[in-house]
Amino acid sequence: MAQPSPYTPGEISRGVPGRGDLIAEFEERLSLLVDLQRLVGRIHVAHGERGIGKTSLLRAYQRIAERRDVLCIWVTAGERTGLIAQLLREIRRETTTWPRSAAASVGKLLDSLTVTVGVPGVASVTKSGGAAEERADLEARELEEVLRAVLKNRDRVPALILFVDEIQTADADGIRTLAYAWQHLQAEGPDLPAAVFAAGLSNAPEHISGAVTFSERFAYRPLEMLSTGAQVSALTEPALALGVSWTPSALSTAAELAAGYPYALQLVGDSAWAAAGRPDPGGVVLDEHVDRARRLVDRDMGALFAARWSSTTPSEKAFLGALAWLQEGESGVERSALAGARGVSTTGISTVRSQLLEKGLIQTEGRGRVRITPIPGFVEFIRDQGENPHG
Ligand SMILES: Nc1ncnc2c1ncn2[C@@H]1O[C@H](COP(=O)(O)OP(=O)(O)O)[C@@H](O)[C@H]1O
Ligand SMILES: [Mg+2]
Repeated sequence: MAQPSPYTPGEISRGVPGRGDLIAEFEERLSLLVDLQRLVGRIHVAHGERGIGKTSLLRAYQRIAERRDVLCIWVTAGERTGLIAQLLREIRRETTTWPRSAAASVGKLLDSLTVTVGVPGVASVTKSGGAAEERADLEARELEEVLRAVLKNRDRVPALILFVDEIQTADADGIRTLAYAWQHLQAEGPDLPAAVFAAGLSNAPEHISGAVTFSERFAYRPLEMLSTGAQVSALTEPALALGVSWTPSALSTAAELAAGYPYALQLVGDSAWAAAGRPDPGGVVLDEHVDRARRLVDRDMGALFAARWSSTTPSEKAFLGALAWLQEGESGVERSALAGARGVSTTGISTVRSQLLEKGLIQTEGRGRVRITPIPGFVEFIRDQGENPHG
């Protein structure tokens, strides 16, 4: 019969093993929101490298919230229109299916707002006199008005969550407006059952504090690599649902191969599943299947690294090359050490650094130290691309 693979390389994962603490925190916030009808006062931001499981986590939050009839508004930031316009568009889309009178009142409000927040450019024309802060403040008031209108009938909508994925690509104006709105609501609308849950690359906290000065309004949650136990659950649970098991030794080899990186783990699971002949119920995934998967995993991870490498400029390559040889363990490398490395120009170093942070290829390690994003095999890949600048 041959069962298709239950693993999800490059797709939203079905479960989120290893994220129990974050799920528990979300459920606690959700209870505040739905049961107590209270505002979640801080904007939650999960952050980490690409492939660590941010979108899957937000989608898991959404599934949990929808079970309680919460209205979930989802945007992937980065569109040219700006974050607030994206959110308002989604709110409009979600509310048009409502009974006519309710939809009409939200719709009318949204129509009246497009002059100020809906159309980028128009806002700056109509309010060109104001400073960025003043503008954000005004726009925040309008956003609040919309949220209040959406939440007017609590029988229909008991609570509202705004999900923002890829927040590191959101426009600074949009982040500022959202932050102002939440600041106002904390002071004036603690009984409005609304929340924001966002996710972004490791530079998201930096990006956000570049847009707003009061970053204590945000609750940052770094996503870590999966523990061995979480990796084992991620491999065994989807298999068990199909009546298939893994031997302990196959599991530990697979976990070692993926090294806690969720994307790699799904690749390992998927390839081992194929190597095992897409087992029927009663089948077992063995060591030899994982061994045969190894080649496929190496190839796919290699392709991933190659794609990222080819999207870098020559000075970014020089920076990464130097960093790959300088960084030891996880402690990161100081700016001065990098500046001294052969091939890295001192003048452009901070530009290159911030470009690489934006691309998610490096991350900060406190006190201005940086390291290459710890995806298993990436440092070795970079070292293989060039000569050792010190050797
Ligand atoms: N908790 C988890 N356990 C196992 N695999 C996961 C987990 N979270 C995500 N994944 C898998 O990891 C890969 C990356 O997930 P994704 O949510 O797209 O990450 P990100 O948004 O951080 O880039 C996907 O293949 C997904 O199925
Ligand atoms: Mg994602």
